[in-house]
Amino acid sequence: MRVLLTGGCGFIGANFVRHVLAQREDLELVNLDALTYAGNPANLADLADHPRYRFIKGDVADRVAAAEAVRGCQAVVHMAAESHVDRSIEGPAEFIRTNVVGTQVLLDAARDAGVSRFVLVSTDEVYGSLGPTGYFTETTPLAPSSPYSASKAAADLLALAYHHTFGFPAIVTRCSNNYGPYQFPEKLIPLFITNADANRPLPLYGDGRNVRDWIHVEDHVRGLLAVLDRGRPGEVYNIGGGNERTNLEITQTILAALGKPASLITFVADRLGHDRRYAIDATKTRGELGWRPTIDFKEGVAATVRWYLEHRTWWEEIKSGAYRDYYERMYGDRLRRAPADRT
Ligand code: NAD
Ligand code: TYD
Repeated sequence: MRVLLTGGCGFIGANFVRHVLAQREDLELVNLDALTYAGNPANLADLADHPRYRFIKGDVADRVAAAEAVRGCQAVVHMAAESHVDRSIEGPAEFIRTNVVGTQVLLDAARDAGVSRFVLVSTDEVYGSLGPTGYFTETTPLAPSSPYSASKAAADLLALAYHHTFGFPAIVTRCSNNYGPYQFPEKLIPLFITNADANRPLPLYGDGRNVRDWIHVEDHVRGLLAVLDRGRPGEVYNIGGGNERTNLEITQTILAALGKPASLITFVADRLGHDRRYAIDATKTRGELGWRPTIDFKEGVAATVRWYLEHRTWWEEIKSGAYRDYYERMYGDRLRRAPADRT
């Protein structure tokens, strides 16, 4: 089967491509990616000539590019997106264009092409924020709070509406926070590993007690493939690791792995509208699809820290470019205003 993957040069996409080419001889991949700041050809450079892989540089919101890419494909895994909450607070427009309009354009192209499955990679952030107890299930009402999560909720609901209205074979996955190799160092775990390595401050938002439910990207990829293989059209599947940690706990784990001092922790002004807690109930996906996460959190984080230490050139190149302006905009004032020591 030939599968159109969108956003394959990003973090989860690169891991998806690597897994499929190594382990799924029955699948061919066409990767449509616009190569935004988050899309890095270096992530897949060694696979460029693989016989079951083809790369197309293009924008999912471009009708012609979307139609050309999906031609001859039997299924779609749509994960191209603007993905960083902080950037969505700084500028929501691109999130609406790619995540909402891009999804509608791709859905139309896939409908015209008559694909037999369309997996929309959504996020647990569409559910909004939890209090100290409870879990998101697939029937939890959507209550997104950031421009990012609102744009993902729109895409998620559009896919389900195409199933309801047109009988289009869309399936939605909602996964918790991923970590692992190739994650762009704007997200918590790779940002803190690479900052700590360079003895730079680790900017923890607010009181550092916000909770995320972490999953290794490889377990997410296996979940997506279970949904592609066996998921039912029109259904939603939660994917989560069952590893709830406060951001402070994550930070301490990273510092311990690198042998760096707690004095690097710097509490800074909170993210606007910051969701307090996410936690996934993946009972349906486990029961119906026989999927379960397999990577132990402690081992997964240790391996991820090692990966970043062994791939310095990869992230040093990213952090030396346009990223510097982003970092100054996002953290410059916050760090200058941070109270001296609140650890
Ligand atoms: P990422 O930012 O690392 O990668 C996004 C990729 O999409 C990049 O390669 C980028 O070039 C590409 N892209 C962006 N706009 C595009 C456009 N208009 N046309 C074509 N390609 C475009 O993101 P990620 O962390 O790999 O996330 C992938 C997907 O998974 C996203 O849909 C995200 O919402 C979802 N998700 C992510 C997480 C997580 O923890 N990272 C958790 C749950 C769901
Ligand atoms: P992030 O990796 O941006 O993922 P998301 O916002 O999609 O959950 O952030 C994870 C958590 O870490 C979130 O609660 C915000 C927090 N955080 C910080 O405290 N400091 C930072 O510099 C970043 C990037 C995130």
